Amino acid sequence: MKPQINVGMIGLGTVGVGTLRVLLENKAEIERKIGSRLEVVRIVDLDTTSERPVKFDKSILTKNANEVLDNPDIDIVVELIGGLHPAKDFILRALKNGKHVVTANKELIAKEGTDILSLADKQGLDFYFEASVGGGIPVIGPLKECLAANKIQEVIGIVNGTTNYILTKMANQGSDFADVLKEAQKAGYAEADPTADVEGFDARYKLAILAAIAFTNRIDVNNIYCEGITKISGNDIAYAREMGYALKLLAIAKRDGQEIQARVHPTLIPIAHPLANVNDVYNGIFVRGDFVGDLMFYGRGAGSLPTGSAVAGDVIDIARNINLDATGRLPCTCFENRRIQDMEEVETSYYIRMLVDDKPKVLANIASIFGEHNVSIATMVQKDHCKGRAEIVIVTHKIKEKNFRNAISLVEGLPVVSKVNNWIRVEE
Ligand SMILES: NC(=O)c1ccc[n+]([C@@H]2O[C@H](COP(=O)([O-])OP(=O)(O)OC[C@H]3O[C@@H](n4cnc5c(N)ncnc54)[C@H](OP(=O)(O)O)[C@@H]3O)[C@@H](O)[C@H]2O)c1
Repeated sequence: MKPQINVGMIGLGTVGVGTLRVLLENKAEIERKIGSRLEVVRIVDLDTTSERPVKFDKSILTKNANEVLDNPDIDIVVELIGGLHPAKDFILRALKNGKHVVTANKELIAKEGTDILSLADKQGLDFYFEASVGGGIPVIGPLKECLAANKIQEVIGIVNGTTNYILTKMANQGSDFADVLKEAQKAGYAEADPTADVEGFDARYKLAILAAIAFTNRIDVNNIYCEGITKISGNDIAYAREMGYALKLLAIAKRDGQEIQARVHPTLIPIAHPLANVNDVYNGIFVRGDFVGDLMFYGRGAGSLPTGSAVAGDVIDIARNINLDATGRLPCTCFENRRIQDMEEVETSYYIRMLVDDKPKVLANIASIFGEHNVSIATMVQKDHCKGRAEIVIVTHKIKEKNFRNAISLVEGLPVVSKVNNWIRVEE
């Protein structure tokens, strides 16, 4: 048992401040759980002068990362600067210098996790990243430990709070994407440059991490299909609701025979599905295991304190491992290399909204093209009509995406079809 375990932090921004607050404000409780003193002895940040919403001894702040990375007294390094570089270099150096590492950096793990995990394995050190997916929601630990006895069949998540906030507001107010995005930016729920969130990139990093752990499989993030929410309209959400669905940006990973499906896109899910009721900035992750059945993880997927809670939880786990002389017991588990299915091969149902001429035989023309491509219609509803045109909404049965795309491009070319306004995948 070490009498004192020392932590060095790199990055004192949103999550850094949250982590420091958790470690300082619950210090006595945490130390009792570890059985040792736990001290944050150095914090690196580019900005060492601004006031932050946490009370701490400012003399431990430095701009020089070497004071953490090369400090022989530091046992655990917490990286919270984000981005690929210099974050990766800092983490590799910390591991080379015999330090355990905690990070919340999803982009780095999704893109470069293999290098880092193999160095941690080689060194017999802990590399933990619970906060990288679902912020304050524990999901990586449960998948790696509590659910290790199961073969996981699917993981479906609402893992981006910004887009979930936007879609919830669009649903509640009947507004369109661009207006709600502006509101979300004003409220501080969306970045000035919202691309990573609204185009689905952030969710894709998180899905790469979840799928790799759930399916014990190497996942190349570039092979994950990714589509954002920018084309969703208030009408799509309203019509979906009338048909018994909620519209969410889902990160979906499933076992499919010898292959894996991994995709991020706006999706209609039945109102009765537990994910349909995950609203505002909340995140939810639905997991199906072969023995445990269905599980749902729900909570705050981002924010200073919830994310700080997850980072601090990792620090505590590692501190306990150090005291038990049991570090390195959760190494990389990507044993397999199953292929990620091309999106064209994925089978799913589709919602289509289109504007057509309001006259006889139009529906017969559309149905005939669908029929030729084995696309069968489950539901068709006529919505508004004006000036000789009608808006119709169709939901199909399951069909390979390749067939669907071929059919819809021919439908788009029909003279009686003014516009295919949108089509969205449906998860039954
Ligand atoms: N925010 C969340 O809710 C959340 C949730 C889950 C995961 N994460 C992840 O947590 C990590 C941190 O996010 P954040 O929101 O806390 O970011 P942030 O608020 O931008 O904080 C990053 C901090 O690191 C500092 N920094 C940047 N480069 C540095 C360097 N080379 N050396 C020392 N300090 C450096 C920045 O200083 P300057 O400001 O002066 O540049 C800033 O204070 C990211 O990987 C993010 O993806 C965030």
